[in-house]
Amino acid sequence: MSHAPARPLDPQAWAALTRSRHSVRDFRPDPIPEAVLRAVLTDAITAPSWSNTQPYRLAVASGELRDRISAELCARYDAGMRARRGGLADRARVAVTRHGLPDGDFRVPQRYPDDLQPARVACGRGLYDVLGIDRADRPARDRQMRRNFELFGAPTAVFVFVHAGLREYAVLDAGLVLQTLLLAAHARGLGACAQGALAIWAGPVREAFAVPAEYRLLCGVSLGYPTDAPVNAFRPDRAPLDAVLLPPRT
Ligand SMILES: Cc1cc2nc3c(=O)[nH]c(=O)nc-3n(C[C@H](O)[C@H](O)[C@H](O)COP(=O)(O)O)c2cc1C
Repeated sequence: MSHAPARPLDPQAWAALTRSRHSVRDFRPDPIPEAVLRAVLTDAITAPSWSNTQPYRLAVASGELRDRISAELCARYDAGMRARRGGLADRARVAVTRHGLPDGDFRVPQRYPDDLQPARVACGRGLYDVLGIDRADRPARDRQMRRNFELFGAPTAVFVFVHAGLREYAVLDAGLVLQTLLLAAHARGLGACAQGALAIWAGPVREAFAVPAEYRLLCGVSLGYPTDAPVNAFRPDRAPLDAVLLPPRT
């Protein structure tokens, strides 16, 4: 009789799945069949959470709702960019109307810690390289940033909210849901991109969904079928395992 532990999935199949997942930043407009979308979301919420509280909520936007939110986010991005790149009148308009100023529930880091900055720069550089964007070409970089708010053409966005009362533990649980969602999508041939950018402005998302007062918008995910655009070939590498493992004190 064999005492080998039951293995629900061949480890090689698991490794192939998790190691081949990557962020997708160009999507076909084809809608995701409702059953597939629900299966991905159902898988996602199997993730563990503190005392099984599931201190997160997901808001899913497809079709007309997706278009409306994306248009609102693009309008805010454009207003913000006009204020940053434009003249005095543009800056004054934003100062008065506040349209375009971030209203997210969390502050997006502007300055990265010194020890993390090189990885951030390498990631940005790698992305611009596959897109053929010169780092000095500000308009092209701005256009690429705007693609975030166009959901990279994806037919669906999932917005992730966390319960403020559980602080970082809710964020931790949402992270587990996020990765489970990304892998569940990948397993079904869907592409996805987690996007902190989709939480810079919370207003358009809050207007579109009945969000309980104690929930905060953490991030969004664009979801759909990938194109074969060069940007989807971007594979930022990882620090080697030994760089992540802490050595014992000697
Ligand atoms: C929480 C989170 C937020 C992210 N925000 C963005 C974003 O706003 N825009 C974007 O293009 N990519 C975003 N990414 C994708 C990362 O850049 C990407 O995961 C990382 O470079 C590793 O690449 P990979 O996902 O292809 O393995 C985000 C990823 C995570 C986990």
